[in-house]
Amino acid sequence: MVNEKKNKKDEILEHLFNAGGKTLSGVKISEKTGISRVAVWKHIKDLKKSGIDIETRPRGYALGDPEDLLMPFCFDPPFRDRIYYFNKIESTMDKAKSLARQGVAHLSLCLAEDQTCGRGRLDRRWVSAKGGLWFSLILKPKLPPPMAYIYNFAASLCLARVLNRTFSLSVKVKWPNDLLLGGRKLAGLLSEMETRADQLEFLIIGIGLNVNNNQDNADFDAISLKNALGRPVHRRYLLTQFLREFEACIQDINCCSVMGEWKEHTSTIGSRVRVETMNGVLEGKATDVDKTGALIVETAPGTLSKIIYGDCFHT
Ligand code: BTN
Repeated sequence: MVNEKKNKKDEILEHLFNAGGKTLSGVKISEKTGISRVAVWKHIKDLKKSGIDIETRPRGYALGDPEDLLMPFCFDPPFRDRIYYFNKIESTMDKAKSLARQGVAHLSLCLAEDQTCGRGRLDRRWVSAKGGLWFSLILKPKLPPPMAYIYNFAASLCLARVLNRTFSLSVKVKWPNDLLLGGRKLAGLLSEMETRADQLEFLIIGIGLNVNNNQDNADFDAISLKNALGRPVHRRYLLTQFLREFEACIQDINCCSVMGEWKEHTSTIGSRVRVETMNGVLEGKATDVDKTGALIVETAPGTLSKIIYGDCFHT
């Protein structure tokens, strides 16, 4: 079990959160937390500096946007007990791995407001500015490692389902596990695992979803929900919906139905693609994704290649 002592800043935030957007006076916060008013003021100054929207009002302090907070205490059970929150870390993938090794429960989640070394597939850099949802799920299913792929497909499918249902969008999945909106990248998924004696010790699924971060000026062809909808979105609601959807889906996971529905949501099959793999680049028409999650590409008339892992670009 991982115990993390709550510090005074977290305590102050929790009181402000529980006040539901109403003003809490410095005196009240000082009584509740057992620190002086000056110490409260200093902590609030630091919290604001770290990017938390706290308004200073004539009679005290209030949260500007309580719905956007992602600290564990803002979530309902059972999620609040499984969330490990960080303001700034290198990558949620590494932190999730160390939490998994320390024995945190199946379905724990490591999330960060800001990652300084976020990474993508094939060791690419993943830019993770504030406003996005950057998190890694820690899964400990009893499975042989080759079966782990189905969890990645389930995660991208569940995320697409939630986004389409919530915002009436037409988010598509791209092989292996990206989410596209209008052909632009809305989310990327990365999975890493540790095994022992032919069994999965744990699987980490990292998800980077562009939510309120601005991707309009980004170098590559990306988009955020805020760019698409023209307004900011509540990240906590979205994350909760996704966790519910995903947990229900993996309760009794069925490879055929996950792959079948994933294929209904994909824009890869039928597209011309360029796939960068560790062994080189392949080009052709994507004709299928088989039941093991491999991409089938027709590289020349009648010549089919099966690709197990790589980065795929629709051309
Ligand atoms: C890709 O499209 O190449 C995958 C991107 C995965 C990014 C997420 S953000 C949360 C987690 N932490 C990381 O460092 N990477 C993943």
